[in-house]
Amino acid sequence: MVVKLNGSVTKFRAICGIDDEVNQNGDVAWRVTLLGEGGSSEVVAEGNALRTDDEATELDIDLAGWKFLVLDVDKNGVDSYDHFDWANAYFEYVEQNSTPPVTVPISTIDAGLDCATLYFAQPGVKMMQFIRPTGDGSTVTVEGLPEGLTFDTRRSAVTGIVENEGEYTYKVTVENAAGHSTVTDVKIVVSSNLQMPTPMMGWLSWNVVEGNISQKVVEQVADAMVSTGLADAGYNNLIIDDLWHADSRDSAGNPVEDKTKFPKGMKAAADYTHSKGLRFGIYSDGGSKTCAGRFGSFGYETEDANQYAKWDVDVLKYDYCNAPADQATCIERYKAISDALKASGRDITLYVCEWGVREPWKWGAEIGAPTWRCTYDTRDCWEGKSGGIGILQSIAGMKDLWPYSGPNRFNDADMMCVGINGTGKSSSALCVKVGMTKEEYRTQMSLWCMWASPLTLSFDLTKPITDVDMEIMSNPELIAINQDRMGLQAKYLGEKNGCALFAKDLENGDVAVAVVNLNNRSTDYTIDFSDIDALEPGRKYHFRDCWAAEDLGVKENSFTVNIPVHATKVYRLTDAGVTGISPINVNESEMTVTTSGNQVTVNVSNSDNAMKRVIVSDMVGRVLAVGSTRNDSITLGVNAQEGTILMVNTVCNGRAMTAKTELN
Ligand code: GLA
Repeated sequence: MVVKLNGSVTKFRAICGIDDEVNQNGDVAWRVTLLGEGGSSEVVAEGNALRTDDEATELDIDLAGWKFLVLDVDKNGVDSYDHFDWANAYFEYVEQNSTPPVTVPISTIDAGLDCATLYFAQPGVKMMQFIRPTGDGSTVTVEGLPEGLTFDTRRSAVTGIVENEGEYTYKVTVENAAGHSTVTDVKIVVSSNLQMPTPMMGWLSWNVVEGNISQKVVEQVADAMVSTGLADAGYNNLIIDDLWHADSRDSAGNPVEDKTKFPKGMKAAADYTHSKGLRFGIYSDGGSKTCAGRFGSFGYETEDANQYAKWDVDVLKYDYCNAPADQATCIERYKAISDALKASGRDITLYVCEWGVREPWKWGAEIGAPTWRCTYDTRDCWEGKSGGIGILQSIAGMKDLWPYSGPNRFNDADMMCVGINGTGKSSSALCVKVGMTKEEYRTQMSLWCMWASPLTLSFDLTKPITDVDMEIMSNPELIAINQDRMGLQAKYLGEKNGCALFAKDLENGDVAVAVVNLNNRSTDYTIDFSDIDALEPGRKYHFRDCWAAEDLGVKENSFTVNIPVHATKVYRLTDAGVTGISPINVNESEMTVTTSGNQVTVNVSNSDNAMKRVIVSDMVGRVLAVGSTRNDSITLGVNAQEGTILMVNTVCNGRAMTAKTELN
């Protein structure tokens, strides 16, 4: 318990000791600590309380000049019988002109970090790393940043561009409200060879296929991923889940596939997948058995990794059923498979699946994995029951993990259920109501994209896809937000009016904003710019509605929208200048864009020599060219292939104009 003393408190008096109810079995360590200016502290009383007949201790503690009183009770080993009392406790303070002492959250005197301490970036690509201290009201300072990076105090983020590859370490000092500070070393690895620079996209067999996985299913799904256009949209990993296994390993301990399901052998499944330009993934488990009861990899990490390498596997989803519950053993087991994969000679991505129970966002990157599941299995519903994970439970599990996301370290919200429409197997269990509405599936896609979660589909790709489903999962503007190269998970900014607000910084300086209507009715929601720290105070923003693919013009201070039941609005905001300056009237029709070879020419007529900022990007948001001019037109060279679809964004006098064109 932490008590803030507020200046005029002079004394704390109490008697303390083990409670009579514990009889002879108590085993408690207790301590009274005072915290003062500049981080000073003093333990003024402490002891071990064991038995009922131990004498109570009388406390008479002088508090003048101290800022916090901390009463600590720790169990000394034995879990139960730790009932300790602070009896007859009271403070003496001068009532007149003073504030009484108050208890404050323990986090007030914390000075740790609740964010990634191993981060990744690509050379020449803008990065942003949020530094979230554990303590409320703490101050953060950063020293020793590599060239190109600065610490943005307002955002509490390290940001900028590092040009050169390498590993850099810098120091973060967190000072809490009591003046205590801790220093943490944070490492950034800058490499053009990251395993997962942007979130993985693909298809996983579990939700609809389960035990029916086979060479035939792999072939049908691989064909469909290409013919439907999903592969072109970015879904390029085909991962088979549990139940591909034979009954047992071979006599040498190597894993064996079920020959009735994979008559040509697992390598043939991988080969077929590769022949379609896709990557191939497989599944195992760090326990004695997989979740569905087949042989697990524990003790066979080397055999398994080597066999997967021989089969030309690219991704390994590694589950954690039938394994010890504690975090230390779990980390050891994931490290063992990670090391074995590295030693196999093939670049195989490790996809951690321990369901977020042991906080893999705190150690996944450290053991060499670029993504980890953060929740139990997602279910095909808005609301799960009895531990089931519907959309509401995904939000609860994911919303506060944003300081742990970045390139090559993604928080995975599990398979999306878009397209399943209630036809799944275990995905239909533990639901209040099986299946979702179009708006609810859109909400799932919106959230997964905002969160930079891997986008893994899991519906039946052996059957035709409806246009509605295809439109949801292949929305290029949403996918561009998911695949943004800064790799940030949208920050959760709280709930208002029953709607949840999220905002995500994007590489080109835009900000993606999503509002989820959690109410069972349509709701009016006002997006207040001042609620979103990613927006610069005092500036206006151009709004693009990413689901409607519609430009809504420039907004100042706030924007009110009606959101249907369980729907999500996703906007891409582009800086449109300082508030209070009235724009010169530039019509969108006055921007023309022409291309020739790899040159893009943007012309804005009647702009009265006003400054124009032009950003040319591709459909996944990669910035290809940036320029500015006061002339009517500007020509920019773009390094992209013929046929690339280009988005041209021009901001001029507070007006944002967007055009889509193709490089010819
Ligand atoms: C666990 C995982 C699922 C799936 C099954 C397979 O439940 O969380 O994603 O892999 O096991 O048995």
